[in-house]
Amino acid sequence: MSEHTIHTPILQLTDVRKEYGSDGITTEVLHGISLTMEQGEFTALIGPSGSGKSTLLNIIGLLEQPTGGSLLMQGRETGTMPEEELTRLRGKSIGFVFQFHHLIPAFTALENVMLPLMLEEGRLTPEQRERAVWLLTRVGLADRVDFKPGKLSGGQQQRVAIARALAVNPPLVLADEPTGNLDTAAADGIFKLLYEINRESGTTFLIVTHDPRLAKRCSRVVELVDGRVVS
Ligand SMILES: Nc1ncnc2c1ncn2[C@@H]1O[C@H](COP(=O)(O)OP(=O)(O)O)[C@@H](O)[C@H]1O
Ligand SMILES: [Mg+2]
Repeated sequence: MSEHTIHTPILQLTDVRKEYGSDGITTEVLHGISLTMEQGEFTALIGPSGSGKSTLLNIIGLLEQPTGGSLLMQGRETGTMPEEELTRLRGKSIGFVFQFHHLIPAFTALENVMLPLMLEEGRLTPEQRERAVWLLTRVGLADRVDFKPGKLSGGQQQRVAIARALAVNPPLVLADEPTGNLDTAAADGIFKLLYEINRESGTTFLIVTHDPRLAKRCSRVVELVDGRVVS
């Protein structure tokens, strides 16, 4: 790369604030978060219950608007973007994995993974279908593509959710306690998978976790206490 290459972090938060409430009764739950994440980072977000982790993740995921400060996504200011543009940016730039997988019960694993691709173009190309199968293979579910979520274990369901999050090949994946609902062995497996995907594809991960054991395996740990970054 030339020395003139402009370096742009994937994410730049400056003094991000979030207030909830109305009618003059408001509570600020994020008190000025400043945070920069570089492309390819594998970062844990830890902190006590109620410290604002999910709120921060939802703001970074463009699901909620901050009430103050600024959020740059790949160098682009998101605060002034029209809703339609935010939706488009969210769709192609961010994958989500939640504690509860939010898979569609009536759809097979493959259909669940193909859904974000469908939403992108309105129909699927053969290459996109192949990618969905490949992703399910990558997460260890080659023999489960036609299973509905109800026929899968908790760990397997979460693997489908990970494959779905990666469907559009987003540069950033946000995971809110992705192992919170799993036993230790399944949680370890999921964590290892996320880490491998990060190494292989350079996808940036921000993972909320309660588990200090898992956080230790991240290259960076951001700690939130009472709506402030403390380390
Ligand atoms: N939609 C909401 N309306 C009002 N208060 C909220 C809302 N969402 C979260 N909060 C409050 O914000 C604080 C942080 O919550 P949250 O981000 O869920 O924390 P964490 O994920 O770290 O447990 C809590 O006090 C919570 O009650
Ligand atoms: Mg939470």
